[in-house]
Amino acid sequence: MNREEIYSHFEELDKQASLGGGVEKIEKQHTSGKMTARERINMLLDKGTFNELDKFVNHRCNNFGMEKKQIPGDGMVTGYGKIDGRLVFVYAYDFTAHGGSLSETNAAKIVKVQELALKNGAPVIALNDSGGARIQEGVNSLEGYASIFYQNTIASGVIPQISAILGPCAGGACYSPALTDFIFMVKEQSHMFITGPDVVKTVTNEIVDKEELGGAYTHSSKSGVTHFMCNNEEETIMTIRELLSFLPSNNMEDAPLAATTDDIHRQVEALQTVIPEDPNMPYDIKDIIEPVLDNQYFFEVMPHFAKNVVIGFGRLNGHSVGIVANQPAYLAGVLDIDASDKAARFIRFCDCFNIPIITFEDVPGFLPGTVQEHNGIIRHGAKIVYAYAEATVPKITLITRKAYGGAYIVMSSKPTGADVNLAYPQAEIAVMGAEGAVNILYRKASPEEKKAIIKEYEEKFSNPYRAAERGYIDEIIMPRETRYKLVQALEMARNKNQSNPPKKHGNMPL
Ligand code: HXC
Repeated sequence: MNREEIYSHFEELDKQASLGGGVEKIEKQHTSGKMTARERINMLLDKGTFNELDKFVNHRCNNFGMEKKQIPGDGMVTGYGKIDGRLVFVYAYDFTAHGGSLSETNAAKIVKVQELALKNGAPVIALNDSGGARIQEGVNSLEGYASIFYQNTIASGVIPQISAILGPCAGGACYSPALTDFIFMVKEQSHMFITGPDVVKTVTNEIVDKEELGGAYTHSSKSGVTHFMCNNEEETIMTIRELLSFLPSNNMEDAPLAATTDDIHRQVEALQTVIPEDPNMPYDIKDIIEPVLDNQYFFEVMPHFAKNVVIGFGRLNGHSVGIVANQPAYLAGVLDIDASDKAARFIRFCDCFNIPIITFEDVPGFLPGTVQEHNGIIRHGAKIVYAYAEATVPKITLITRKAYGGAYIVMSSKPTGADVNLAYPQAEIAVMGAEGAVNILYRKASPEEKKAIIKEYEEKFSNPYRAAERGYIDEIIMPRETRYKLVQALEMARNKNQSNPPKKHGNMPL
């Protein structure tokens, strides 16, 4: 071949490889409402930045006629590119080629990208759409999964790892996303389960469809497996891009600074009246969170799961912050098992990636009862205090109203390492509410006597002043000045330099 022929031969092969499983399969993918792997990647990355690796890699399987079924790339598209000008690595299962099933060789492609990402300190984004382990390859495929899980684990806390489930994700394949930091799912398009409806019926006699068993709604509201439920692939991809804007590329960096014109002195008059005068009336904690953040914008994570705790990202004076808040509008903001898990994992994520944590506290206590006790509220609740106590990022706590008992302690109290603890004048900081306390201390008192003692207790304890007298609260602030006070506290703690004693790792309650 002369030079021209060599070039055009390469172009032909490259074009063929770009088609994955071929035109027919691509049409089938489009008909089922899905994009192809390369279309997804092109939408995810800044225009023209994708560099594909291993485009001609193929499998080495000779079982069940597989030697005749060679598709360049083998059902996996991997490489690197940029999001908002920052390096990211990506791998996407190509459902048009062998149903995106995982072979030994395409597992090696994934591992190559994972290793590069770790070495170069950049996030990895996985776009899943796969029939699972390549059945024809047997145990070789399983070994491939195992290597991916290993890399997921080693990279945890070093680089952000994000998984989007854009089609089926079954069996052990679910554990790679589960090992990553954030999972995205698409309504009625993506499914995650250990085993599908047919096996469920055989084993347990339970009849359930795949949406109810492992659809986006199930995993974002009931199981807490997924963090974001999106309406379609485009929304998923745009939300991934936005999420990354709040995060550093790796654990040695800070999150990017987003220039803001929002005045740090901006007072929010509406905050003066957000909290009802009756302490038993609910209010929406997001009515406090949103107005104090830059441009009044809060990027909520896991909005549908354990709504009694609110988590998410925002910015203060351009700096990324992680928000953890009790939600008095849901179950009175009580802490239960799911809320504890949700908060603890998020706190740990922020700490891994140098993102300061702002805690908005209004918590009447832990949810009592046999359901919670038998399912281990002690074990799960301990995760929050552990996560806060080990976190060395700047930690600012604002008590907006109730801060009772053990829940007061675990929600980033001063002795657990918080840097600045603020309270509104209507904060109530005590061992328990007035009624509960009086019923224990004065069990035999008449109703009239109890009424008088409750009043005395409220005057004595249902305020922030006992805590402020001891320095457990650093400052009592007017609600309207919350934004400025939080920015000041963050500025003060920006160069915080704290580390825990050297150890292999702690033994967190799980
Ligand atoms: C090899 C597979 C495959 C697989 C699908 N295909 N799954 N090839 N191994 N696991 C192929 C099909 O043969 C078909 O090939 C093409 O992909 C498209 O599949 P269809 O069935 O035509 O598509 P669809 O009707 O959309 O159904 C998709 C599906 C179904 C729901 C994913 O294919 C399916 O149930 N697959 C098997 C799922 C499964 O049980 N996987 C193992 C899970 S256990 P052609 O040549 O016709 O295009 C597991 C263990 C992991 O993964 C353990 C990790 C630790």
